[in-house]
This record gives sequence, C-alpha cells and structure tokens, in this order.
Amino acid sequence: MLLFLLACTGASEDTAAIDPCEGAHAVSWVGFADGFFATYCRSCHSAETQDRFGAPVGMDFDTLYQVRTHAAAVRVTALEQGSMPVGGGVYEDDLILLDEWLRCGI
Ligand code: HEC
Repeated sequence: MLLFLLACTGASEDTAAIDPCEGAHAVSWVGFADGFFATYCRSCHSAETQDRFGAPVGMDFDTLYQVRTHAAAVRVTALEQGSMPVGGGVYEDDLILLDEWLRCGI
C-alpha cells in the first residue's frame, strides 16, 4: 500500500524519472478539455446542437465519458490528421495542450 501511494503521488524518485507526464502542464477536463471541445467541436458534435453539419449521430463530446469513449479517434482526427475540426483553425497552443491532456489528464 505504501509503495502504491508513493508511485501515485510521484514521491518516489525512481517513478518520477520515467514518468512520461513529467513537465506536462496540469491539464484537466474542467481546466482545459471541456472548454476545448466547446470551442472547437460541439457546434457539430453535441446532443444540443441544432445542426450537426453531417457529424456522425452519437459522436458527441459533451461529457468526459463521451470523449474517453472516442479518445483514440479524437487523437487521430484532431492531432495526427488535422482533419477535425472541419476547416481547421485550432491554435497551436491548444493542440499542444490537447496532446498533453490525452496523454496525461484524461
Ligand atoms: C463543422 C462541423 C464539425 C466540427 C466543428 C467538428 N467536426 Fe468532427 N465531424 C464532422 C463531420 C461532418 C464528420 C463526418 C465526416 C468525416 O468523418 O469527415 C465528423 C467526424 C468526426 C469523427 C469521426 C471520424 C472517423 O473517422 O471516425 C471524429 C473523431 C471527429 N469528427 C472529431 C472531431 C473533433 C475532436 C472536433 C473538434 C476538435 C470536431 N470533430 C469538430 C463535423 C465536424
């Protein structure tokens, strides 16, 4: 139990040395991702939107649970292909934070 606690808090120097999130911003759903998806995605990908502009029914990013379900596809489209959002326009800083959030905050 003690070892488990040390590993989770990063108190052990050994685990800190191999932590891929070391140095990453503290990006959270409330502090970053919720706003990211509101700004860039929910005009089409939301249960609330009036017009989905062809976005697949059920692929919504209103909640953390929904984004977790589609996290791999979010990474591919928004980060690797740059195909989402349609038309582009995401600030580079936001892409960096999205990458950190998908790796370390989700
Ligand atoms: C202007 C409307 C619009 C916006 C804004 C938008 N999308 Fe989409 N999205 C679509 C449409 C239309 C499709 C279906 C056609 C396609 O896959 O290209 C789609 C499909 C997708 C898919 C499924 C693709 C696949 O291959 O399965 C994902 C994942 C996705 N969008 C993620 C996002 C993310 C993440 C954002 C925000 C960063 C976003 N979209 C913003 C319209 C939009």
